[in-house]
Amino acid sequence: MLSNGREEVVKSCVSLPELHAQVFCHSSKNITRTECCYTDFCNNITLRLPLGLPLLVQRTIARTIVLQEIVGKGRFGEVWHGKWCGEDVAVKIFSSRDERSWFREAEIYQTVMLRHENILGFIAADNKDNGTWTQLWLVSEYHEQGSLFDYLNRGTVTVEGMVRLALSVASGLAHLHMEIVGTQGKPAIAHRDLKSKNILVKRNETCAIADLGLAVKHDSVLNTIDIPQNPRVGTRRYMAPEILDDAMNTNIFESFKRADIYSLGLVYWEIARRCSVGGITEEYQLPYYDLVPSDPSIEDMRRVVCEQKLRPSIPNQWQSCEALRVLGRLMRECWRASGAARLTALRVKKTISQLCVPEDCKA
Ligand SMILES: Nc1ncnc2c1ncn2[C@@H]1O[C@H](COP(=O)(O)OP(=O)(O)OP(=O)(O)O)[C@@H](O)[C@H]1O
Ligand SMILES: [Mg+2]
Repeated sequence: MLSNGREEVVKSCVSLPELHAQVFCHSSKNITRTECCYTDFCNNITLRLPLGLPLLVQRTIARTIVLQEIVGKGRFGEVWHGKWCGEDVAVKIFSSRDERSWFREAEIYQTVMLRHENILGFIAADNKDNGTWTQLWLVSEYHEQGSLFDYLNRGTVTVEGMVRLALSVASGLAHLHMEIVGTQGKPAIAHRDLKSKNILVKRNETCAIADLGLAVKHDSVLNTIDIPQNPRVGTRRYMAPEILDDAMNTNIFESFKRADIYSLGLVYWEIARRCSVGGITEEYQLPYYDLVPSDPSIEDMRRVVCEQKLRPSIPNQWQSCEALRVLGRLMRECWRASGAARLTALRVKKTISQLCVPEDCKA
């Protein structure tokens, strides 16, 4: 364990209150279990706290995973479904060309106190050299329902389902954005690539925010951001107007959070369209599907979002249901042109959590 910044080997079972931290139980089959099981095995392993599993353990896990099938392909490589000791895991495989992205994503996931039920659970990172090239692995929890984009394409959601999805994304984003002060604290983090493809749907129909490879952390003591920022790094379709017209003040960390909130508004629009009230629902569409081509350029987006000041349209029938009405209002307040006028993730979370779903809205 880490004690005054030094790593120590824990030789006896320590109680959780004594540790004041998260413990990864190595005896349990489920590596992401965060309680000590108080068996002997627990005591003879180096627990490196609080940054995640010791590197050797991460490597051992990664090298005993059996890959099953490929589940997706993104900008930085492939995502596989794998099995580790009978458990499902997801493995994102980067090519050696994308080593920086692999390193950055692993680094962000291992930020102190980042773990949250609505943020994808990180398990391990490993670099494996096969003699010819290096394979870079990032192992995380596996969610068989896939991304929110896949989920919304597959079917519709009930009003309760919509509220649960929306609330869970807001909770994950509020946790990411929040700074927790103290020795066991966490820096504020902005995602910078929030979109329905980077949000996973868990078995209980709540979301986990994934793909933290482009995220930036705020050091509130020095008031600095941890990496040099190229503001135009996310997905063009979801970029806030100030990013599209190069007007974002990248010296202020709040700017990055506000840009995430704009993207959140678009994700809410995608969810709300699939909500079925009285049998009425809309087909799945990406935001701005009717205004820009399929792989829009910055210029395509800038014309629509900044010049014409257009936003996704809000159907009239949303007025007939309280939850949809509230979500519609939240979206508008998330995608305002001025970043400073947008809501915070915490405000969005609070508003949605106050929503009760009345009988007349049920599908
Ligand atoms: N932990 C996971 N569990 C289950 N499926 C996953 C997991 N992570 C990713 N996927 C699936 O793999 C797909 C590819 O993910 P990836 O992040 O590489 O690309 P993307 O999000 O589709 O595009 P981009 O490169 O723009 O981020 C996702 O869309 C999702 O369907
Ligand atoms: Mg992704």
